[in-house]
Amino acid sequence: MTSGPRQQATTRSASDLDSTAPDATAPETTAPSAASRDRLADSPLLRAARGEAARHTPVWFMRQAGRSLPEYRALREGVAMLESCRRPDLVTEITLQPVRRHGVDAAIFFSDIVVPVAAVGLGIDIVPGVGPVVAEPIRTRADLDRLPPLTPDLVPDITESVRQLVGELGDIPLIGFAGAPFTLASYLVEGGPSRNHVKTKALMHGDPQLWHDLCDRLATISAAFLTVQVEAGASAVQLFDSWAGALTRADYERHVRPHSARVLAEIGRLGVPRIHFGVGTGELLESMATAGADVIGVDYRVNLAEAVTRVGGTYAVQGNLDPALLFAPWEVLEAQTRRILREGQAAPGHIFNLGHGVLPETDPTVLTRLVTLVHELTTRA
Ligand code: CP3
Repeated sequence: MTSGPRQQATTRSASDLDSTAPDATAPETTAPSAASRDRLADSPLLRAARGEAARHTPVWFMRQAGRSLPEYRALREGVAMLESCRRPDLVTEITLQPVRRHGVDAAIFFSDIVVPVAAVGLGIDIVPGVGPVVAEPIRTRADLDRLPPLTPDLVPDITESVRQLVGELGDIPLIGFAGAPFTLASYLVEGGPSRNHVKTKALMHGDPQLWHDLCDRLATISAAFLTVQVEAGASAVQLFDSWAGALTRADYERHVRPHSARVLAEIGRLGVPRIHFGVGTGELLESMATAGADVIGVDYRVNLAEAVTRVGGTYAVQGNLDPALLFAPWEVLEAQTRRILREGQAAPGHIFNLGHGVLPETDPTVLTRLVTLVHELTTRA
């Protein structure tokens, strides 16, 4: 791809490279100039994540890259999901597709939460319509040996994809991501997607030491995966603990939060904003807020104003339109969007998003219209 995702971004990044000799002569032409770095730092997404006023409320969508886009389905034809995540040409193009189409305020790196565990050698596949499936689940102490640390040499393609992307994106931030230890552990222990997380909870309570050792390994892998992305140029990260909502607060605090907290603390040293999100986490928001993120992702089941109160009013929030409402009449969608934007004002920063990922059947033109609406309603003079 030779042109940037948006005309504006293309012009800006191209002119930066032309006008700054040191960067232009650097081996990686993606190295940004100081001016470009300033514009990125000043982008609505990064400002809101830091709790600063932004020129408009930033908006992006979880799962914005993917099956709702015909151009994604076309590119993925005949290419397995995990393979597509390891090919920089595909990762770059798929990540940029929603940025170009919708004009969102951030790109999210196209990958999957199981990519790093596959990279350390665990036999895992993503089965269409099912999700991640592990050939031999992790259930004993001996199984831990199949989860060695992730070293950057195992994922040179991730570094290459991120570098390519930040070069193309210019002043639009790239959000890196990883799965949190609990959500990863659930896939690994169950052997695949699970409704009740029965084996996972049995392990957590039946052998707490093994549970902690497993989560410790996964925290090391997740932190390393995020570090690779940030060191290659991602300017924010999101830690997905998608299934944490299945836990009681006591279990979350005792068996899960310490491990997520370690991942977030390690990334904190890199100086990028950290977003932390889970589904069905209304009862956990207060606890999740103390895990160490800067932005708390809110799922659609909690009223955003209530969520701001629960996290103590001091964190930026992200969310939280119900993705099913993208199928409702536009007037409903608009009214709900206005409400969420109003409620988000109570937080130091608000990043507009859905309360979970874009559903595959979503009409992408509705997403584009929603981005325009959020920008129109919130643009400050
Ligand atoms: O746009 C984006 O958000 C970036 C891409 C992204 C994917 N997976 C691509 C993907 C992200 C952020 C993820 C994270 C992820 N993966 C999570 C956390 C987010 C969440 O939804 O809570 C989880 C739980 C997974 C595990 C996973 N991978 C599931 C449940 C599935 C869906 C299986 C199916 O086919 O219904 C996947 C596969 C997957 N990951 C797809 C995409 C685009 C669909 C695969 C395809 O297009 O063939």
